[in-house]
Amino acid sequence: MFIYSRVILIFGICLIATNTAYSLSFEDGKKLYNSFCIHCHGIDGTGTGQAGDLSGVPTGDLSNQAYMSLLSDDEVISRVAYGEEKYPYLQMPGWRSNLSNEEIKVVVDYVRTLAVDRGPLAGPTPAERSERFKNDPLNRGKIYYLRFCSGCHGKKGDGKGWMASKALNKPIAIGSPEIASALTFDGVKSYVTDTGRWGKSYMPIFPEEEIIHKLDEILAYIRTLPEKYGK
Ligand code: HEC
Ligand code: HEC
Repeated sequence: MFIYSRVILIFGICLIATNTAYSLSFEDGKKLYNSFCIHCHGIDGTGTGQAGDLSGVPTGDLSNQAYMSLLSDDEVISRVAYGEEKYPYLQMPGWRSNLSNEEIKVVVDYVRTLAVDRGPLAGPTPAERSERFKNDPLNRGKIYYLRFCSGCHGKKGDGKGWMASKALNKPIAIGSPEIASALTFDGVKSYVTDTGRWGKSYMPIFPEEEIIHKLDEILAYIRTLPEKYGK
């Protein structure tokens, strides 16, 4: 069965290759990495790109050979293509709406060359990491909060996120005891998705399908912020 699906896959790739006017090279993979991945994963894949740090979610280390060698090419390609849509624990959007199958393939070929042998794996395997947010809604809420809200409302909820200085209005200190304890699910939901705020508010209006199913967890996390507030 495994060999059979491999054959279909190889056949599929051949079809794509013969259908396109040209084939992409390794150099194209490098260029694509520099355009789409380097901001978060860094020039060497270690995850020291600034955007990864700003979003508050560490990217993992694509240069860790012991870790990356546990993932087949197909598995890496699938993670890059679908991201959190298929692998919710990953916290990376998929790239399939920006990159073609062939582009993803060459970018992954390039990612493979970033691997450095640093000895045996010290941390969790990909399979272990895939379990990390199971039964842990609060940590998922934290990750979502860091990603969607902390840029303005601040990592500690003090309203001093890195984007706050650029926002014309001051984002409220959502993690202060008075404000956090007064938030209700329906109130936050209607504020976050309210299109009536167009032109009147400095906070982005989030598409419902992107945010609604994450809000319970985000709010649960915001409610823990007063414990750290001001510390
Ligand atoms: C906005 C920041 C960002 C960008 C841009 C980005 N990534 Fe990621 N990437 C992440 C984060 C965050 C993770 C997940 C870390 C985690 O949750 O384990 C991740 C995970 C991955 C993984 C999975 C590693 C694993 O542990 O299974 C691969 C492979 C990957 N990225 C490749 C890419 C490639 C290739 C590109 C460019 C096409 C790219 N990434 C662009 C942030 C980013
Ligand atoms: C780009 C900056 C920015 C981001 C990102 C952001 N906010 Fe805000 N938020 C603001 C600003 C600024 C205000 C103050 C009122 C305004 O301008 O709309 C605010 C106000 C609020 C309010 C208060 C509404 C009230 O009762 O006055 C809530 C609740 C809120 N944000 C929740 C969130 C949540 C949850 C997220 C993440 C999903 C988030 N915000 C992401 C900038 C941001």
